[in-house]
Formats: sequence, C-alpha cells, structure tokens
Amino acid sequence: MLVIGGGVIGCAIARRLARDGVRTLLLERDEPGTHASWAAAGMLSPLVEAEEPGPFLSLLLESRRLFPEFARELLSETGTEVGYRDEGALYVGFTGADVLTLEERYRWQSAAGLPVQRLSGAEARELEPGLAGGVRGALRFPEDHQVDNRLLAGALRMAAVTAGAEIRAGVEVGEVLVEGARAVGVRTTMGERIDAAAVVIAAGSWAGALRGLPHAVPVSPVHGQLIALKTTPPLFRHVVHSPRVYLVPRADGRLIVGATVEQVGFRKAVTPAGILSLLGPALEAAPTLADAPLVESWSGLRPGTPDALPILGPDRDVAGLHYATGHYRNGILLAPITADIIAESIGGDQSRELTAFSLSRFSSLRPPS
Ligand code: GLY
Repeated sequence: MLVIGGGVIGCAIARRLARDGVRTLLLERDEPGTHASWAAAGMLSPLVEAEEPGPFLSLLLESRRLFPEFARELLSETGTEVGYRDEGALYVGFTGADVLTLEERYRWQSAAGLPVQRLSGAEARELEPGLAGGVRGALRFPEDHQVDNRLLAGALRMAAVTAGAEIRAGVEVGEVLVEGARAVGVRTTMGERIDAAAVVIAAGSWAGALRGLPHAVPVSPVHGQLIALKTTPPLFRHVVHSPRVYLVPRADGRLIVGATVEQVGFRKAVTPAGILSLLGPALEAAPTLADAPLVESWSGLRPGTPDALPILGPDRDVAGLHYATGHYRNGILLAPITADIIAESIGGDQSRELTAFSLSRFSSLRPPS
C-alpha cells in the first residue's frame, strides 16, 4: 500500500494499515506533520463546526467518540501524551446578532438531542471568570474537546513506524500511475517509479496537483493565521469560541487564538491585517489579554473543497485508488475515522454510507490535463 502525504491523515492511515498487517509505504514531500497538521489549533468541535444535522455532523461525532481511545492507544504505542483535554467548549455571544446565532444553534442542536447547554452571561462567567463582562449568553458543549495537534502529529508518525510502516520524507510524488483501470503505483518528481497494490491520496491542499488521476480532485488551500498569547496561570479551561474568533488554552499557559480564513492560493504569511483581525475579537472576549505576551505567530493551509466536506473513499472507476483529503477545518478531528474508512475501503468493505463524501459528487469537473 502506498500513502501520499504525511500529515495526521496520512500517518493515521499508515498506522492503521500497518497495524492490520498491510505492508505500507508513506511518501511525504517535506517532513511529516509540518503543514496543516502543525498549524492547526487541535479543537475537536463537532457542535461548532457543523451547521445542521446530517452526514457531516455524524462523521464528526463518530470521530470525536473515537478520540479518547485513539489518544490512549497512541500513549501506549509511543509514550507520547497527545494533550487530549475534555473540559469542553463554550460558544459565547456579545452582540444582539450573536445572541440570535446562539439561539438558532441551540434550537437545532437540542432538537437533535445533541449535548448542548444554554447559559446566561453570568453563568458563563462563573465557569470562566476571564470572559469579558459584556458576555450576553453562551452555549456549552461538554463533549467538544481538544488535543495538542503537534504532539498528535509526532505520535502518529512514530506509531506508524512502530507498527511497521515505512515513511520516506523528502520524496515528492508527481504522478499516480493507472494501468487498465487500476492504480499500480506512483512516479516521483525525481523520476522514480514505485509500484504498489493500492494508492491512497492524503496530500491535503496539494492533492489536486497530482497528475495521472482519473478525475479532478477539487481541493484548494484556505489560508489560516494564528497567534499564541501567554497567560499565566492559564486564563481559560474551556475552549472558547465567539462568532469571530476561537481561543484554545493549552496546559502550559499558551492561549492559541485563531484563525483567519483567506483564499490567497498557496501563499503562507502572517500579516498585520491578519493579526489585527484576531486581536480585536480576542480582546472583546477577554479584555485582560491586552497585557498577555504574544509568543508565537504562524499560518497554514486548510485543504478546502467546494462544499467544505472531505473527500473519502474509493475512486468510482479506478480500482486500488482511494481518497482521504479535503478535510478543510477538521483534519485533526477526522483523523481516527478517516483511518477506519480507508482501511474499510481498501479491504473492499462497502457497508459504510459515503455518498456525501465521495469524489463522484464533483463528477462534472474535468481532471487536470
Ligand atoms: N478548525 C479551525 C480552523 O480551521 O480554523
């Protein structure tokens, strides 16, 4: 088996396949885990990310349920504690429009029987005294958790290798080789042909640039800028979202503030405008942050798709070709379920309903020539 891409998705797949006894080679153009997986904030937030009940929310929830055991397994396989934290998340509102947004979210989520609690502003401040006095109300999602994505990426890489997968860093795939309606391997940009019984496309934002694929893979980069402020002692226990920003407290006192959403191609840069757009809403949520040292800034590229849903499962026309890309805002959260889906897909198990995530939903698009 050959996996293209060494982010959390590619490494989770390689780990799973190797654990299942499948000979697995993962190729990564740079160093594994150094792109979107590293840039993320690590929120496991189905109830913030989904806008309605349906297949996407179900997928997020299923992966969220897998996470505690996933983290425990990684600890025992690698000795790495990946920073799984289960204090929950708050979605806070400050304006009249925010209150309406919260009410609408509470309406559909409580009607669907999802774990959401409605809080007054005073109740929210009782839970998190660092919140601004102007908070008018909040939703609490006790089952929306977080993980340290950088630790997770390192642990998954190590776990994949420990399980027997081979990882080759610094090897860029240029073309997927298809013969007689079957994927047979890849050719690297250095001209090396590598044969494989099956190929998994887990190349994130770069998936659409691979040559040789039978269909267009409409993944494009969506730039996100983030900063970290130092709060000692930590300002929050919950992950805090407002409609304009999110604040993710790490155990070491760093508070991650994210993230911009920009369509600027493959350009990665932290800009004054980007930082300004984060700081205003961060101070609105917690004015004491005005004095917190700014200790880090970075950015990354989310692999976006036209409908913001991932592309998962087998190619409709080419045997041995599988997709695990386009995870957009939820690559960290979706890593465990994606590994399961690809293992099933490679094993020929078609019992899972994947229509909403199949590449063929974009069948009117033409492949790159
Ligand atoms: N998952 C949050 C983001 O993509 O900014």
